Amino acid sequence: MTPATLSPPRPEPPVAERIELSLPGLPAAMEGRTVLHLSDLHIRRYRPWFRKVISMCSRISPDFVCMTGDYMSWPRDEAASLKVMGDLVAALRPRVGAYASFGNHDTEAFKRMASKIEGVVWLEHRAAVLADFGITFLGTSTPCDLIQTIVDARELEQRVGVEGKSYRILLGHEPSILITCAELGVQWALLGHTHGGQVRFGLPFAFHNSSNIPLEHSSGILRCRDSVGTISRGLGESYFDVRLFCPPQLPLYVLKRGPLPGAFTRRMKCVKWW
Ligand SMILES: [Fe+2]
Repeated sequence: MTPATLSPPRPEPPVAERIELSLPGLPAAMEGRTVLHLSDLHIRRYRPWFRKVISMCSRISPDFVCMTGDYMSWPRDEAASLKVMGDLVAALRPRVGAYASFGNHDTEAFKRMASKIEGVVWLEHRAAVLADFGITFLGTSTPCDLIQTIVDARELEQRVGVEGKSYRILLGHEPSILITCAELGVQWALLGHTHGGQVRFGLPFAFHNSSNIPLEHSSGILRCRDSVGTISRGLGESYFDVRLFCPPQLPLYVLKRGPLPGAFTRRMKCVKWW
């Protein structure tokens, strides 16, 4: 059986999924704002799927674009990945800006080349303070150094006089970082890496998620103490161009001020599965 017969038809075109996200302490300037979450494209060549993703993205016009890594799959995919990502970013045109972290598949060569893509603030263990919106974006890489990232955030927040007042949003990759986020006061983490399991056989959990988190936590909204993590199923595949009962995902978060989803829990827990 070929991979093509295993894989159900992809959505035509990929539809941005509006997800209302309630966050306490959200700055007033962020109320009602939209955040488009792109993750795990795993670009190997300029295939028709990416043309559809670019076409869809050109019609969304979010306030923010947040990208959480694995733009490419393997060494020597850098040039194709750079071309697709360049076209994608050119099509996105977010009203405020695009911010990005890196994943475990992104090579050092790609990271150097990515700086040529105009319109993206790449955050590799760095932070960006948006004082007008009352937020700080923090971005990680692999291996992840969240402490260094938070030190950078604190120094920047001190410099602009918003230390302790800025709402911290992490662009991460591996979901297990949410536990550390909860300890260190990062309120919301956008995450990827798992692809939602990529192959699910119709059951409400994944059989594999390339991570050390439980399989039932493979995608959705996770809660840990007073922090929340949103794991996208991503837009691409790794190892095989196959998805089964686990469609690609392009979340568009609509932010509102309110209680965190789910009940308080000291352990990481999935409060909404997707
Ligand atoms: Fe990935």
